[in-house]
Amino acid sequence: MDIALVGPGRAGTAVARALVDAGHRVISVAGRTPDAESAQIAADRFDARIEPVQSVGRGAALVLIATPDDAIGATASAVAQSLEPDALVMHVAGALGLAPFLPLVETRPDVQVGALHPLQTLPTPDTPLAGAWAAVAGPPLVTELARELGMHPFAVADDHRAMYHAAAVIASNHVVALLGQVERLADAAGVPFAAFEPLTRSAVEHSFDVGPAAALTGPVARGDVATVRGHLDAIPDDERRSYRALADAAHRLTGRNDTSLREALA
Ligand SMILES: NC(=O)c1ccc[n+]([C@@H]2O[C@H](COP(=O)([O-])OP(=O)(O)OC[C@H]3O[C@@H](n4cnc5c(N)ncnc54)[C@H](OP(=O)(O)O)[C@@H]3O)[C@@H](O)[C@H]2O)c1
Repeated sequence: MDIALVGPGRAGTAVARALVDAGHRVISVAGRTPDAESAQIAADRFDARIEPVQSVGRGAALVLIATPDDAIGATASAVAQSLEPDALVMHVAGALGLAPFLPLVETRPDVQVGALHPLQTLPTPDTPLAGAWAAVAGPPLVTELARELGMHPFAVADDHRAMYHAAAVIASNHVVALLGQVERLADAAGVPFAAFEPLTRSAVEHSFDVGPAAALTGPVARGDVATVRGHLDAIPDDERRSYRALADAAHRLTGRNDTSLREALA
């Protein structure tokens, strides 16, 4: 497939790179502006031409849109006039289904629209996609592309997209934010952050092996309310809010209604 890449950032370049590795070819790149640095870097990388968004679709069977989420609809409309008949226009956002493409489909009913969200954090364009899962929407070709990249495709209804993406953000960004709290408290206690690595890894692995409820250990699971109170007394003021919220989530996971614990967390 000849591919046009619109939005040559981390995700766009990572997906385009994986497609190139699978035997496809990036022929054109459009960034925020034709002289944008990211567009230049991607064009050099893929040996592709740089185009304004309005003409980037010329000759492409796949137009990959990887701009920030709120620019996807406008970008798809801008690219409309250059699309080849039957081209697939596909975004990679997690929070959105096919709704941003409705205006495009009205003006160009002869093209296909789809979405392929790699359920993987892509901090750099070289992050591998194989082995990750992918939320897909649109024609069977989207599912085929996901499989070709070594990903496990699954469908998410458009009206569940925001919920699905919230889960994805919690699974990645919030876990990282939580580790930030671990690092701050470890520093304050004079303990190396690295000491927590086996603990975190085994808790995460166990959660996926047996499910979060069965994997839960610690004072909330045991009902050790005095220990929880001791933590809240010991940690700095500005760390208590997230500790309370997560201890409350752990309490919910136990399925119990422990009044003394709820009082300690109130
Ligand atoms: N990164 C991830 O972990 C990840 C994972 C899965 C899905 N996604 C999805 O991938 C999409 C892009 O996210 P990202 O993290 O890759 O962001 P990013 O690194 O900031 O890349 C966005 C790219 O789009 C360009 N751009 C911005 N507005 C544009 C416009 N109007 N027309 C053309 N290009 C435009 C930016 O140009 P400049 O370089 O000039 O700013 C940049 O190259 C989002 O839909 C996101 O939900 C991201």
